[in-house]
Amino acid sequence: MQLKGKTAIVTGSGRGLGKAIALKLAQMGANIVLNDISGSEDIDATAEEFKALGYNVVVTKGDVRNPDDVENMVKTAIEAFGRIDILVNNAGITRDALLIRMTEKDWDDVLDINLKGAFLCTKAVAKVMIKQRSGKIINIASVSGVMGNAGQANYSASKAGLIGLTKSTARELASRGITCNAVAPGFIQSKMTEVLPEKLKEEYLNSIPLKRFGTPEDVANVVGFLASPDSDYVTGQVIHIDGGLVM
Ligand SMILES: NC(=O)c1ccc[n+]([C@@H]2O[C@H](COP(=O)([O-])OP(=O)(O)OC[C@H]3O[C@@H](n4cnc5c(N)ncnc54)[C@H](O)[C@@H]3O)[C@@H](O)[C@H]2O)c1
Repeated sequence: MQLKGKTAIVTGSGRGLGKAIALKLAQMGANIVLNDISGSEDIDATAEEFKALGYNVVVTKGDVRNPDDVENMVKTAIEAFGRIDILVNNAGITRDALLIRMTEKDWDDVLDINLKGAFLCTKAVAKVMIKQRSGKIINIASVSGVMGNAGQANYSASKAGLIGLTKSTARELASRGITCNAVAPGFIQSKMTEVLPEKLKEEYLNSIPLKRFGTPEDVANVVGFLASPDSDYVTGQVIHIDGGLVM
């Protein structure tokens, strides 16, 4: 129960990695603010699951691209729990296409949600954390942001940008007792990856030294460490969770 009395916001936590991360932080004792885009079918069911397990949870439906929604998310967290100790910028999408076929909309949507969304959430939450003189910000990047990936120019650029945002935030907020780190998951079993062609999945598997795909729990465990006091002297880092794919 290392996070007892702490409050964590996890964006895009209706399902997938975000849900697993929120669950891990709840198991560690944190109060949880779940967020997902309005219209997401999953978030209400996820909130019910958390409540049934006895966890303290509130829901904020909203788009991380929208500054008003983000302000509302912060307001809801403060009204419910009085403080914000942990922000996990997890909300993200893919719109894969080869570069010459990629539309401007594919580019803008991915950059807006994956990168601008993280900027807006970080900016809004940092104001609270600066007053508290403590906080932990964790960005969910990707190995695509480190090594690039054919068909993912938009996604790779957004995740590389997120790594730059992580390092700048870490440098800027360190003097206020706030750390900022990123994780770079590789191929993790989720709805985002289950749609990929079998042949591509097989190719990925062959290139992973640990010879298995990751699970959302593999990611949640490392985020749990970065959210806990065990990582107090770690900032500006990118931790790969990829079975050794990138080393
Ligand atoms: N699955 C993987 O293999 C993998 C690998 C590396 C990184 N990631 C990253 O992990 C994060 C979660 O991925 P996932 O696989 O769980 O995907 P997912 O599609 O299952 O979940 C993403 C969640 O974000 C929500 N979301 C989308 N747009 C939003 C918005 N504008 N505002 C708020 N919420 C929004 C979705 O509704 C969904 O619940 C993403 O940032 C993704 O890029 C995933």
